[in-house]
Amino acid sequence: MKKVEHIGIAVADIDIAQDLFSRIFGKKHYKSEIVEDQQVITSFFQIGESKVELVAPTQPKSPIARYLKKNKEGMHHIAFDVDDIYQEMVRIKNEGIRLLNETPKIGADNKLICFLHPTDTNGVLIELCQEIK
Ligand code: CO
Repeated sequence: MKKVEHIGIAVADIDIAQDLFSRIFGKKHYKSEIVEDQQVITSFFQIGESKVELVAPTQPKSPIARYLKKNKEGMHHIAFDVDDIYQEMVRIKNEGIRLLNETPKIGADNKLICFLHPTDTNGVLIELCQEIK
């Protein structure tokens, strides 16, 4: 893993959160994107070499909507940049850590992504992400 690529924050309303975080960071988001596959709308802020990703549900059955029913808004996941997501998925699986998806999914911001099972990672939802070239 190379670096923290982004920190994901689960929010109920993307517009309200976007406005709040632009006031906190003192700058505007550089991108907002709907990810159909995950039924979410995302909004990205560049903070140094890392990013903050706001994530809100677009559908009541979205995994993020289910998450927000059980939990409050707030820190949701940490994403790590990897060179070869397929290789990292095999390596991590061989360490006995379960993956939430067996093949990479298309994530926001031009990425292939895979989540690790939080039960196997001290409760931290970890996302692997690789830039699609
Ligand atoms: Co993410």
